Amino acid sequence: MVKEESGEYLQKVYSAKDNHDLKEAYDLWAGKYDEHVTSFGYQIPAVAAGLFGKYVMPDITPILDAGAGTGLMGSVLDALGYREQVGVDLSEGMLKKARERNIYTFLHQMILGEKLDFPSDHFGACQSIGVFTAGHAPASAFEELVRVVRPGGYIFFSLLEDVYAPKGYKEKFETLENDGKWQLTEKTKKFPGLPLEDPDLFHRVHVYRVH
Ligand SMILES: C[S@@+](CC[C@H](N)C(=O)[O-])C[C@H]1O[C@@H](n2cnc3c(N)ncnc32)[C@H](O)[C@@H]1O
Repeated sequence: MVKEESGEYLQKVYSAKDNHDLKEAYDLWAGKYDEHVTSFGYQIPAVAAGLFGKYVMPDITPILDAGAGTGLMGSVLDALGYREQVGVDLSEGMLKKARERNIYTFLHQMILGEKLDFPSDHFGACQSIGVFTAGHAPASAFEELVRVVRPGGYIFFSLLEDVYAPKGYKEKFETLENDGKWQLTEKTKKFPGLPLEDPDLFHRVHVYRVH
């Protein structure tokens, strides 16, 4: 029964038609999100944390958590000693849960894909985990992420393989690289992000260095 219920929430967010739909679905899911994704074997934060530790020293601040949700990934970085984390998300319900963790310097409602209310070259690093997947944040969001991260800083994000070329991410990444805005540092093998729920949906974590 619980399994069916958690699967329904997941299908709702994957099939969201627009940001309004997505926000509503996450607002409703917020109270149960951590419990459900843990039961799905959500392993993207573990993979991303390993890579983050490889490239970002704990004295690099501030760190942007783009699509922070309830703060699952932020809490892993907090345990590893990273400080001054700033989170943004479109769902107030998810941000409310993140606030309860007391690990963020600021949490703001903002939409990835629209202009972000931060100065240019502000962040030392950015991570966006579980956010670039079916029905979620668009490829255009990377223009603003590149703008707000300082030259030399890294952007870490997970991306669902199925949307990479069809939804314009591949093209956007190449354009940003050709325009000299960033450069690919590393990309993981593909792996199931939610192995106990969707073993056939593969993600990779990408690392880019901003110029
Ligand atoms: C699967 S959750 C991941 C949350 C967190 N990063 C984690 O790893 O647990 C995806 C989050 O991205 C947010 N999100 C999706 N599209 C977004 C957008 N365009 N702008 C801001 N947040 C977005 C959702 O509201 C949700 O909280």
